[in-house]
Amino acid sequence: IINIDLAQEGNEISEDLWGIFYEEINRSGDGGLYPEMIYNRAFEEKNIPHTLTYQDGVIKAPSKVDYESGRVKNWQTEFDVENKTDGWKLESNSEADASMKVVTASPLDPATPHSLLMDIQSNDGVKLVNGGFKGIAFTKGEKYDFLFYARPFAFTGPITASIVDTLGNVVATRAFDMSGNNEWDAYSFSFTSDVTNNALQLELTFGAAGQVCLDYISLLPQSTFMDRKGGLRKDIAQMLADLNPAFIRWPGGCVVEGCTMENRIKWWETIGPHITRKGEWDLWGYHNTYGFGYHEFLQLCEDVGASAMYVANAGVSCAARNGDYYEMDQMPEIVEQVLGSIEYAIGDVSTKWGAERAKNGHPEPFPLKYLEIGNENSGEIYAERYDMIYDAVREKYPDLEILNAHFFFTPEIPEYYTEEKIQMLDPHWYRDAEFFFANTQLFDTIPRGKFDIYAGEYACIQQGNMYGALSEAAFMTGMERNADIVKMASYAPLLENVNYRNWPTNLIHFKNDSVYGRSSYYVQKMFAENRPDVNLDTQLDWVFPEEKIIGGIGLESPSDLTIKDLIVDTEDDVDNASILSDENNWKVVKGTWTVNEEGLKAEAIPTLPQGQRAFDFEGDVTNSIHNEQIQAENLVMSF
Ligand code: AHR
Repeated sequence: IINIDLAQEGNEISEDLWGIFYEEINRSGDGGLYPEMIYNRAFEEKNIPHTLTYQDGVIKAPSKVDYESGRVKNWQTEFDVENKTDGWKLESNSEADASMKVVTASPLDPATPHSLLMDIQSNDGVKLVNGGFKGIAFTKGEKYDFLFYARPFAFTGPITASIVDTLGNVVATRAFDMSGNNEWDAYSFSFTSDVTNNALQLELTFGAAGQVCLDYISLLPQSTFMDRKGGLRKDIAQMLADLNPAFIRWPGGCVVEGCTMENRIKWWETIGPHITRKGEWDLWGYHNTYGFGYHEFLQLCEDVGASAMYVANAGVSCAARNGDYYEMDQMPEIVEQVLGSIEYAIGDVSTKWGAERAKNGHPEPFPLKYLEIGNENSGEIYAERYDMIYDAVREKYPDLEILNAHFFFTPEIPEYYTEEKIQMLDPHWYRDAEFFFANTQLFDTIPRGKFDIYAGEYACIQQGNMYGALSEAAFMTGMERNADIVKMASYAPLLENVNYRNWPTNLIHFKNDSVYGRSSYYVQKMFAENRPDVNLDTQLDWVFPEEKIIGGIGLESPSDLTIKDLIVDTEDDVDNASILSDENNWKVVKGTWTVNEEGLKAEAIPTLPQGQRAFDFEGDVTNSIHNEQIQAENLVMSF
């Protein structure tokens, strides 16, 4: 029986409680939400920031360290960086027929300094092939746009662009004669696919010998989410929209900090024409074009009716421990960049960045509501820089909600923070299901009136299954019940291209031709679709099914427990059985219980709340009790 006093007012639940967290990880952007189908389209893959050192083709990225525990995070720190033609291969009759190399002379755009120099020695139809992000997928009846840039050197072509299947059947083709000499020119064609196939590849066939530089070779679907030109992949964006997110966080995540300060994501490099976007090799080990950049993120927020949360670098990189952070006299540059990001989103069109937004097609302000300063930062270096950015933003944008990225969950904030500048903290939990089940009451213990909480990243990473999803749901009930202090939450990470997993568990999986949510996705969706307005205090009265009581158990001592009388009035095998307690507290014992003349034996450990199921077992209960067992003063066995 649930008792509720309907006269009570109850705590209001934040309308922004359930949102989503986007980061470029698991190749969630290129080849995913940003539906570019050509892998390494601008030959910028493996273009490594100069502040990172590498030897023998392997980069040694600085590890991120937990400031408080000193524990090095378990992530990849070595990456192969040599193969700059990654994703491209030559097909010719003999090796002497052609060669390719990545060059930097006279780039198509200075932001993307690399292009591919093809040296063709044969007239026999040398081919340059790209298999996309492990395949290119078309849908019958859909339209596609193909584009590439070429700079021929006394080479008139033709170059024939074809999309072919694994048997060599041509799905689309167009031959381009080259004009001009030593000049970049664009070549493009659009077509409708008459096949549905997810194993296609692009072939560029060179009709004659000669030299030509190639760059920005792109293949995009015409049909996008909300029909925006060059916009987002429809099915993936729809999955996000279906989560009904109150807010969207961008760009992360660790990419906010970067391996080094130079490597941090710089929002102003992610707007404007895609061809001018520098992109970045990010610490998840690949180059990202930022096709899904700051502008597209803000546009997506508007399109799905979500508030935007931008996360800015706080002058501190992942390698802060190694001294890679901005000194205080360098910080005005960072402050300027943070203010610029806000101005781009909501500034008047008469301002520098407001005008830029208008130039990019959106004179109206975007729904930016939150700014988080830093990601998973902590410590005095961060606190000092946080205060500086906070002051500048608060002065210019008094209504913007500012979040502190203090990484560790502590009821008291460390003294190096200026308390009045901390309104909301962002703790993260990547734990196992047992942690989430055991911590449904974690938020009940947080002192009120000091700061609010944004649970910015959490996920059951040990069990990426229904059990894990249920544990997240249990944890979320704790957030919802404490929504007077937990104002926002977002599961992380959001997206995974199943062929490029960086992180153990991710909410939405996609392939080139399909997308699906893991069970955790449906937990998120269920909560978001059933948002309560207020929290009422409830009392639960458990009622046990009398007719099922078949035994009682005596207790000898709390530390060495012996259950004397376990009476089971059946000799049949039992498919599913459980033991429930009618006491307030369970004493749950894990380990193997054995039945002998003295009864059942085990050692005592923690307490579980009333009503929680202590163990389930299958089999013949007259002979065995299986591995996980319990002790309690009064036991009820039900079948
Ligand atoms: O979500 C994956 C990573 O986990 C994020 O980039 C980072 O913030 C956290 O450590």
